[in-house]
Amino acid sequence: MTNNNIYIVANWKMYGNSKSINSINKVIKISKSRKFKNVKIIYCPPYTLLSEFVKKTKNAKISIGAQNCHTEKDYGSYTGFISAKMIKDTGSKYVILGHSENRISGETNEDINKKIKSAIKKKLNVILCVGENLAEKRKNITKKVLSYQINKSLNKVKNINNIIIAYEPVWSIGTGIIPKKKYLEFNVRYIKQYLSNKFYKNKIKILYGGSVDSKNAKYLMQINEISGFLVGGASKNSKKFIDIIKKTIK
Ligand code: PGA
Repeated sequence: MTNNNIYIVANWKMYGNSKSINSINKVIKISKSRKFKNVKIIYCPPYTLLSEFVKKTKNAKISIGAQNCHTEKDYGSYTGFISAKMIKDTGSKYVILGHSENRISGETNEDINKKIKSAIKKKLNVILCVGENLAEKRKNITKKVLSYQINKSLNKVKNINNIIIAYEPVWSIGTGIIPKKKYLEFNVRYIKQYLSNKFYKNKIKILYGGSVDSKNAKYLMQINEISGFLVGGASKNSKKFIDIIKKTIK
């Protein structure tokens, strides 16, 4: 990993309440330190905490993002859903799309494509998750899966400047198992190559996600091709999260 603009994204999933907001105080403090000036910290709490997080991090070097949005960009009769416009209204700047936990519950690449277009129209930055599951890895079709997901979800998306890709092998999420360096490098390089064939002169950043913690961050940051991490479980504990941030800049 280079030391230029490293992204460390915290995905809190369906965790956190009004009390947990104070747990990020120390992260706010370090975000302002010169030592971490190249690190971009992004918190993605549940929808219920977006406004609170935006308020809390107002004077910090931290951005806030949502974990999903609806395919419709504005308003509509969709009980229980949140649009890109509503996310933007909270002051959030990012949205995670295509997370495998949503793909598993039926989200298609076509849905993801519509969501990306809505998010871009509302000037949100997108963190697009892609990755193979264990069966696909065993069948040796990882490249095919990655190109299919990217191709479909970025179909007719003209402006890819505000998109970051998070490569998250599904078998690595929440399991404590991380890919071998060679496997990870190979797949990230493949994604980069695929994107540069598809989009002329793109400078798209690729993050790695899946069981990143303070113990393996140092190992994972040796991979030159990645620009940071998408952290699930370990991001809820500020001490662990700070440890990950510290390890990525050394
Ligand atoms: P994990 O989650 O770090 O708990 O494996 C990563 C993710 O789901 O984005």
